[in-house]
Amino acid sequence: MCGIVGILGSKPVATDLVDALRRLEYRGYDSAGVATVENGHLERRRAEGKLRNLETRLLSEPLSGHTGIGHTRWATHGRPTERNAHPHMSAKVSVVHNGIIENFRELKTELTAKGHTFETDTDTEAVVHLVTDEMERGAGPIDAVKAALGKLKGAFALGIIFAGEDDLMIAARQGSPLAIGHGSGEMYLGSDAIALAPFTDAITYLEEGDWAVMRRAGVQVFDRAGQPVTRPLIKSVASSLLVDKGNHRHFMAKEIHEQPDVISHTLSNYLDMANARVNFPDLGIDLTKISRVTISACGTAYYAGLVGKYWIERYARVPVEIDVASEMRYREAPLPADGLAVFVSQSGETADTLATLRYAKANGQRIASIVNVRTSTIARESHAVLPTLAGPEIGVASTKAFTCQLAALACLAIAIGRARGAISQELEQELVTALVEVPRLISTVLRNEEQYIELAHGLSKARDVLYLGRGSSYPLALEGALKLKEISYIHAEGYAAGELKHGPIALIDEAVPVIVVAPEDDLLEKTVSNVQEVAARGGQIILISNANPETIGCALAAHIPTPKAHPLTNPLIYAIPVQLLAYHTAVFMGTDVDQPRNLAKSVTVE
Ligand code: G6P
Repeated sequence: MCGIVGILGSKPVATDLVDALRRLEYRGYDSAGVATVENGHLERRRAEGKLRNLETRLLSEPLSGHTGIGHTRWATHGRPTERNAHPHMSAKVSVVHNGIIENFRELKTELTAKGHTFETDTDTEAVVHLVTDEMERGAGPIDAVKAALGKLKGAFALGIIFAGEDDLMIAARQGSPLAIGHGSGEMYLGSDAIALAPFTDAITYLEEGDWAVMRRAGVQVFDRAGQPVTRPLIKSVASSLLVDKGNHRHFMAKEIHEQPDVISHTLSNYLDMANARVNFPDLGIDLTKISRVTISACGTAYYAGLVGKYWIERYARVPVEIDVASEMRYREAPLPADGLAVFVSQSGETADTLATLRYAKANGQRIASIVNVRTSTIARESHAVLPTLAGPEIGVASTKAFTCQLAALACLAIAIGRARGAISQELEQELVTALVEVPRLISTVLRNEEQYIELAHGLSKARDVLYLGRGSSYPLALEGALKLKEISYIHAEGYAAGELKHGPIALIDEAVPVIVVAPEDDLLEKTVSNVQEVAARGGQIILISNANPETIGCALAAHIPTPKAHPLTNPLIYAIPVQLLAYHTAVFMGTDVDQPRNLAKSVTVE
């Protein structure tokens, strides 16, 4: 997490640094700062909280340097105060950092013993003193950084500038992404290409262990061993135009409404719509021989994976093991021969997901990743990449990336089932036809937004909210609860409807809304029994269902009607009501919908 930018410019860079940071706020927004080389010495401005606070600071205390670095922070070590905000610096060097320096305590002890004084609680400051120490002992900036890098443990992306060096910036990557942008007579550094999109589309991605010496005239990249290496220059497709709210009040609203389009794009990548067939890329493994599918991911992407488990088991008849990546990576789970491992990630950079991918790869699994960022580390380390074509997702709470992940997983389930003979040609046609209908059905849900605004008023008064679902609606209950808690800060829990009586039923009274995700499928009757258990205890039931509410046989606080869909596609359709409920509740409560407190979109720490 944390966003990094750097510019070797031909005019003062502070405004452009802040502009680039704005596009990186999805990586964290606890505090922000910039540092520039001002007439040979280093100066910085920092501010706690959102970027606008830094902008205000720069208005009253401007910087005019042509060489600078900037940072937007998601705190790991040290509270999100101005003192702990990046850039960190000494008289000689200024550093921005994304990641965690794991051995910073040892380094701090060592450097303190040598007379260095630490001013912050951050791990990053160790890098500052390490480089300064080398320079004080006579090393030039490049040798000093090279020596310091050899002593750092952990995951990091670094941007470094130096006093007295107006045409030098050093970047280093180990575990956290970094992109170098080539301009004409200018060079740029960013955590991703989107940050640099208004400046240049000519991008070089650093690889693991790389570090780069940047000057206005060009960049020299070195590998971990210090050998010069050539990394390709690619034309980035990230467009700054895409990162715009359009007519919507929040990115989240825009992204919810984009779903019919982006799901349609994603589906068309995997389906031959004209012939109602799957047209799935070769995963480089014989699908008829797969012994097990292992799925791992974090957060919302994990819930997409959980739906994928229901689909793959039901339609492809292959056993699926699934776990959150932060658990699976340490479980030392035995993985079978002929196993396919599927990793789901919007950013493609989530540290735990990446670590689990590496574990699965080392244990002989064929690796397929469902990612939204095709240039990401997870994509690059996979044997096969299954892109979601959601476009940049800026709202921290994932919406369109989730449904596009579901679209790709549904196609994967059909592809495996078809290859193994578990799905007949007729069933394939039925399922593909159902998927093709999804964008249209979602549009009909989006046309009835008024109802959610009204329901949100009631939900905003709740202290706790329960979500229930069965079968492939269970992950939707989990996702609904996650959406609500992350953006409205109301405590919410998702449960498998059948688990209600094993504990959560004790929480139910008139003050607890219970949101039931219950499409009219072969499980509806069972779920209805659970709904009645809630009603008998005075719970306020909000039913999301295409079933006739009168058939439920008990009083409902509200019914959110949904269109009738195929059982396969219900999770895609029901994602929309749970997103809209959370969104409108948060809007009503006045929270920071796109950037909820304490969260970040790209989680590159463990
Ligand atoms: C964070 C985000 C979530 C996301 C999760 C996994 O927690 O706030 O929206 O689902 O990370 O991220 P990924 O990029 O791997 O999908």
